[in-house]
Amino acid sequence: MDNFEGVTLPTHVAIIMDGNGRWAKQRHLTRVEGHIAGMDAVRDIVTTTSELHIPYLTLYAFSKENWARPKEEVKGLLELLGIYLEQELPLMMEKDIRFNVIGEKKDFSKRLQSELNGVIQKTGKNKSLLLNIALSYSGRKEILNAVRAILDDAKKGLVNRVDERTFKKYLYTNSIPDPDFLIRTSGEMRLSNFLLWQMAYTEIYITDMLWPDFRKDAYIEALREFTRRERRFGGVKEN
Ligand code: FPP
Repeated sequence: MDNFEGVTLPTHVAIIMDGNGRWAKQRHLTRVEGHIAGMDAVRDIVTTTSELHIPYLTLYAFSKENWARPKEEVKGLLELLGIYLEQELPLMMEKDIRFNVIGEKKDFSKRLQSELNGVIQKTGKNKSLLLNIALSYSGRKEILNAVRAILDDAKKGLVNRVDERTFKKYLYTNSIPDPDFLIRTSGEMRLSNFLLWQMAYTEIYITDMLWPDFRKDAYIEALREFTRRERRFGGVKEN
């Protein structure tokens, strides 16, 4: 495997998988065909993450805002998600990957919810890599939901003081470390409502490469860049 000996890889990689539409357009294909190619890239990146023993990977697959896309595209994306779950379950079991969803699962059809829950349950004891897929996800909504839940618990007398540690417990990512590395493909320089609380100190890497083209070699290059960054968390570098 690629030599990362003696350097620190990220513990939690988050990825905004952008550019499937542009990739398809360049090839005179439909947007859904772009997403199909994007699914192959997902497999490549998940496999590589597992081979590198990075323990957490969070992929932004479908934002709350994505519901506003043309009906045909939304339908295609949801179908693909079903196919993904069925196709990738063996790989998840083989590589000891635990599957999880962050976002509002309740927005999906009962059938898709039960497919998602099935894979979450079947992979529930796997330990090597936690694969979070963000679905119907909005960072602002996640924060608002946390505030509402805290107010409810406060009324019940279960919370009487809120600090960062308490707040984190109310997020989807309550039990895992914040991402230390964010990758965004296809050149846009925005967070797009992704993990707003969690990414306060995350190193950001943006590549012009479109998501379906972002494969193992490009990922390794991005990770290499991470290993060269100095992380200060707002403090002063120690010598
Ligand atoms: C952004 O490209 C991509 C998405 C909105 C969907 C991401 C989906 C996949 C990578 C495939 C399915 C993955 C799983 C896990 C089932 P875009 O359509 O915004 O591209 P554009 O900006 O070029 O139009």
